Amino acid sequence: MTLLAELATPCLLVDLDRLETNIASMAGDARLKGVALRPHAKTHKSAQIARLQLDAGAAGLTLATVSEAEMFVGQGFTDIFIAYPLWVDAPKADRLRALLDTCTLAVGVDSAEGARALAAGLDADDRQRLTVLVEVDSGHHRTGVPPEEAGLLAEQATHAGLDVHGVFTFPGHSYSPGARQQVADQEAEALAAAAAALEDRGLRCPVRSGGSTPTAHSVGPGTMTEMRPGVYVFGDAQQLELGTIGPDRIALTCLATVVSHAGGNTVLDSGSKALGADRAPWASGYGRLLDHPDARISSLSEHHAVVTWPADAPRPEVGSRVRVVPNHVCNAVNLADTLVICRDGEVRERWPVTARGANT
Ligand SMILES: Cc1ncc(COP(=O)(O)O)c(C=O)c1O
Repeated sequence: MTLLAELATPCLLVDLDRLETNIASMAGDARLKGVALRPHAKTHKSAQIARLQLDAGAAGLTLATVSEAEMFVGQGFTDIFIAYPLWVDAPKADRLRALLDTCTLAVGVDSAEGARALAAGLDADDRQRLTVLVEVDSGHHRTGVPPEEAGLLAEQATHAGLDVHGVFTFPGHSYSPGARQQVADQEAEALAAAAAALEDRGLRCPVRSGGSTPTAHSVGPGTMTEMRPGVYVFGDAQQLELGTIGPDRIALTCLATVVSHAGGNTVLDSGSKALGADRAPWASGYGRLLDHPDARISSLSEHHAVVTWPADAPRPEVGSRVRVVPNHVCNAVNLADTLVICRDGEVRERWPVTARGANT
């Protein structure tokens, strides 16, 4: 049995009890609302965690890239939505065709050009097997068409030969303090308006897909048919600061060693190459320490995290270990080969980050 004290740092620890609680809680919430849960597996990129999510009742997986889909299909997962407006050239069309032979696949479109390129890469049979969802902008202003234009795009995609099943949106502007309920309402309105825009043109809209971790619990019954939160499995410092979760729901931390007290600072060996470098304008630092709520990572370089410590609190000694909560857990996982799975303070297993680097 390996003890936490024997692990080489930095490394990512997953608290299995908390992970299971988070998975069960979101699955239960979705069930109560009558909404299918299709968790975004880019957060964990792990076949084992995806299996736990499906065992708890998830309908399928959301993914961001074709290569993530290839990795998960290779692990036996069969129902996948790539929630992204793919640009499909000839090599990508070959990969989509191979996926269609082995799984039920949906992809996003948000332009007529993208829809035509997708259709051109597939033969009639493949086009029938592929589900297409039109991406709608509910206020995040990243990708997606305005809801009222979703009908026109769905019609253009249908004319190109694609099989449009509905609409989806990502309410990413929920990543702002105090915005959660308002954004959840905008998300619901955008999905309803987009569905109406399809129906006005005589097109069906059985799928209305939404969801982010901040808005997941604010989703009203009937506002969407499926939701796609991802970060909820682990939680992270952003979710703490947004008030989405409490510290008792943080299931992933980066175990780090205090390597220096130079200049009166506390410096850890978990730099941006372990934690990721995300810092939203409203974030109070580059990450937190799970057991020291008032400490903040105030600067990061590749292999160093400088922690600002409250003046009156005793600082950990050089050589001691702390558990860091990354700001954005998806980016920390994307940098790791392995998740160290712990229960009761002991290492139980090591799970590979199956879709590590699968970002194309
Ligand atoms: C399209 C899409 N759906 C769902 C999610 C999951 O949301 P969250 O990261 O808030 O869990 C994301 C996250 O980036 C996303 O881009």
